[in-house]
Amino acid sequence: MNSFPSLLESISDLDKLQIDALLSLASKFKHRESESTLFTYKRPIIATSFLENSTRTKHSFAIAIQKLGAMYIDFNAETSSLKKGESLEETFLTLFNQGVNLCIFRGSVSHQLSQFRENPPIKLINGGDGVNEHPTQALLDLFTLIEMEPNLEGKTLAIFGDNIHSRVGHSLCKLLPLFGMKVILCGPKHFLPEQKQLPVGVAWSDNRDETLAKCDYIYLLRIQKERHDPEVAASDSIDYHNTFGVTLDQLKRMNKLIPVLHPGPANIGVELDHALIKSSLYKGYEQVQNSIPMRMAIIQSMLVNNDKNIGIINGEKF
Ligand code: CP
Repeated sequence: MNSFPSLLESISDLDKLQIDALLSLASKFKHRESESTLFTYKRPIIATSFLENSTRTKHSFAIAIQKLGAMYIDFNAETSSLKKGESLEETFLTLFNQGVNLCIFRGSVSHQLSQFRENPPIKLINGGDGVNEHPTQALLDLFTLIEMEPNLEGKTLAIFGDNIHSRVGHSLCKLLPLFGMKVILCGPKHFLPEQKQLPVGVAWSDNRDETLAKCDYIYLLRIQKERHDPEVAASDSIDYHNTFGVTLDQLKRMNKLIPVLHPGPANIGVELDHALIKSSLYKGYEQVQNSIPMRMAIIQSMLVNNDKNIGIINGEKF
């Protein structure tokens, strides 16, 4: 895994061999067949810096970091010098020069980490950037799917909901076709990307029942009201449950008792009902459990990549 990238912004930053290696290492961590190989004497320091709210991603990274034996700091952007106008690059260089080896960053601006592609000021993992991608969520989702069915070739996963704003949806559309899966994006037309923008292996539909009939796995998304016009968002949730929400009764009626995944947070009464989230079809808690070994695998692979091109200050020398 020596070529593992020092910036994981997108699923496109990884090749299939690296993804296979992550799945294998995550499985070993989960079943305690592998120990952390992080240094015992010089413990790495890893920071999370979340400029948007999070329950799952931030805490599972914090747990993964500590299970690996690294030191953990939570960089609080609200009380940092970012609020005094310091740039993200200067902030990351400051953390690097304090000895921080890796930062997991979440922000509301899409592609914000792309500026560091050539010269990363610090090793970086994207914990969700605007409406772009959430690669570590997609990887742990794939890990969860493979636990249920090791050969996903030819299987179809339907993603219901606010596909246009879903960063994990965008990552899944890049990731799952690499494993032979088909993806159908389903929702009202204003939640769907244009057909011509879809990658190979990805289709869309605005018909919930037809899509449910065709798929092997259901993946539900919440409506990302914070990224919508507030008036449209209010009316969306009322109509949405009737037209695109999925209920346990409906799956029983259709004889479609298939796994239901959700990245969380889930809005009960909107994209799914209470009976479904409490049923054994719901895999959201398995995804949460799998987030820790998968994030341990990602962190360890990045930390041991031997990249010497980190934190270099490019400029004139005097
Ligand atoms: N899945 C996910 O990103 O959840 P959080 O927003 O709680 O981190």
